[in-house]
Amino acid sequence: MENNMIQTKDLSISFGRKKVLNKITFDVKECEIFGFLGPSGAGKTTTIKILTKQLKETSGSCEVNAKRNEIGILSDNSGVYERLSVYRNLCFFAELSQTDKKYVEEVLKEVKLWDDKDKKVENLSKGMKQRLLLACAIIHHPKLLFLDEPTASLDPATTEEIHKLLLKLRKEKTTIFLTTHNMEEADLLCDRVAFLNKGEIVEVGTPRELKLKYAKDSVSIIYEDEKEVIVKKDTDAIVKALQKNNKKKIQSIHSQEPNLAEIFLSLTGRELK
Ligand SMILES: Nc1ncnc2c1ncn2[C@@H]1O[C@H](COP(=O)(O)OP(=O)(O)OP(=O)(O)O)[C@@H](O)[C@H]1O
Ligand SMILES: [Mg+2]
Repeated sequence: MENNMIQTKDLSISFGRKKVLNKITFDVKECEIFGFLGPSGAGKTTTIKILTKQLKETSGSCEVNAKRNEIGILSDNSGVYERLSVYRNLCFFAELSQTDKKYVEEVLKEVKLWDDKDKKVENLSKGMKQRLLLACAIIHHPKLLFLDEPTASLDPATTEEIHKLLLKLRKEKTTIFLTTHNMEEADLLCDRVAFLNKGEIVEVGTPRELKLKYAKDSVSIIYEDEKEVIVKKDTDAIVKALQKNNKKKIQSIHSQEPNLAEIFLSLTGRELK
């Protein structure tokens, strides 16, 4: 598995008689941000739990090319001490992972919590707490980072801060496995995405590849008076349409690309909520 940080083959898990993951096969390359997308109940968190050895697969295999202390996790059940300060919490995590305390200040500045370092966790806002959880997940400079919906129900400003940090971590060669419902986030951050539906992977690729693969068969011409004409993506048809309206000024011509949410919907008949 050269250059692969994660490789799964026919990975499956059942809880009792309920099959939650059904033969999923995918790889995550070193240093990429891999988006694992799917609606609620698709099996995203379960996959992270198997990859981080919190659950054992029923059949199939998975290889993760990172030792336990080289992995960082941010998930729903990540916890911090509510009565301790931001600073003390991060020091505690640094000690746990035998990381030099000098990084505490660096990471707190990175997640923009340095000015709030003396606040108790119980007095933090939701966005601040999420940034602290992220700080705890990256304090030991993991080479592989699992993020289970890191920006779910955060405000746009905090979301943007987190996005910037994730792009910086990728530059520093951290591999990131990210689950999200937010297709714009996936499009913005991910090198590749996998669509998971009812425990099965229905598509994998770069956002660009998927948009081209499922591109609509038409082009949109918008004139200055805002009138839009949609024509088949065919030279003759486009020329004809342009000739027909050759007195009008054109505002834009673009091919009609679907976004990731539309692709998911067309593949599964389901919204990504
Ligand atoms: N320990 C368990 N025992 C029984 N069923 C489970 C267990 N863990 C997960 N499931 C079931 O597996 C399915 C997938 O759950 P999972 O948490 O992986 O979904 P998800 O894609 O992360 O959804 P969400 O977007 O809501 O977080 C759900 O139907 C859930 O009820
Ligand atoms: Mg989940």
